[in-house]
Amino acid sequence: MHYVDNILETIGNTPLIRLNKITAEIDALVLAKVEYFNPGSSVKDRMALKMVEDAEADGRLKSGGTIVEGTSGNTGMGLALAAIVKGYKLICVSTDKQSKEKFDILRAVGAEVIVCPTDVAPDDPRSYYSTSKRIAEETPNAWYVNQYDNPSNAVAHYEQTGPEIWKQTDGKITHFVVGVGTGGTISGVAKYLKEQNPDIKIWGIDTYGSVFKKYHETGIFDEKEIYPYITEGIGEDILPENVDFEIIDGFEKVTDKDAAIYTRKLAREEGIFAGNSCGAAVKGVLQLKEHFGPDDVVVVLLHDSGSRYIGKMYNDDWMKEKGFF
Ligand SMILES: Cc1ncc(COP(=O)(O)O)c(C=O)c1O
Repeated sequence: MHYVDNILETIGNTPLIRLNKITAEIDALVLAKVEYFNPGSSVKDRMALKMVEDAEADGRLKSGGTIVEGTSGNTGMGLALAAIVKGYKLICVSTDKQSKEKFDILRAVGAEVIVCPTDVAPDDPRSYYSTSKRIAEETPNAWYVNQYDNPSNAVAHYEQTGPEIWKQTDGKITHFVVGVGTGGTISGVAKYLKEQNPDIKIWGIDTYGSVFKKYHETGIFDEKEIYPYITEGIGEDILPENVDFEIIDGFEKVTDKDAAIYTRKLAREEGIFAGNSCGAAVKGVLQLKEHFGPDDVVVVLLHDSGSRYIGKMYNDDWMKEKGFF
């Protein structure tokens, strides 16, 4: 017989798939690490489980405890799977910018979901940062995950995602391109890959409305860079501890419109039904094409599944309403 003991054991070992039509104008081999093959349909299963296991190991998370996190959905799903298998309660705090589908999915796997306004400062008591911290303090036997500053987030990618990509490309990867939110994926993968070959270039994909690119280039945290945007999962109005700016070679910004259009193109041209930040990442690869040569192997990581965006970029009326057609 060939089976695993529980759903958590199916996390990781996702496929690397060559992109064909959508990257035809690029003179390099472009491979997508498609993370919706994880059981919670996103890359975040990896770090969610790692954060839980590390918190159990050092006593921050105790038997029968409650896990509290500010999450846009994907981390919540990963935490929910871990909570179910390991017997914890889960409270997810999110913002009203996120897809309704994401909340429904979290509730389907037993999480309590609290929704906060998006357009308030991070230190405002109504923000999802402040609300999640407060709930964690007020709930007995609770553990606040804090994926932004929790080092286990990047460690998960250093231990799993990076080695998988190195092995799958037979050590031939030359460039890694990925959307940046908490920074866990880029920092963990980059650390592992640069230890194997320091010449590998690491590119972060950012949004207009986020502080990352300017901070990386100038060292200035410019509040004028912060404004509301549509792309989900990437870009920030804070500097998470998990973003290791030193290890990143550059950031590239992609517009909301391009991210939405390329999310749809990925589905229609490659059959890869992926999420919004994946369209941004692929458009970012196209914007960076001058950096790649014929012998290069470019890996772009696709964070999550398209099923969470049916009511948004996969919906024609929504696209029209936003002026994206
Ligand atoms: C859809 C999506 N894309 C991209 C990211 C960014 O990944 P990371 O937080 O590892 O930087 C996240 C997570 O925040 C996400 O949920």
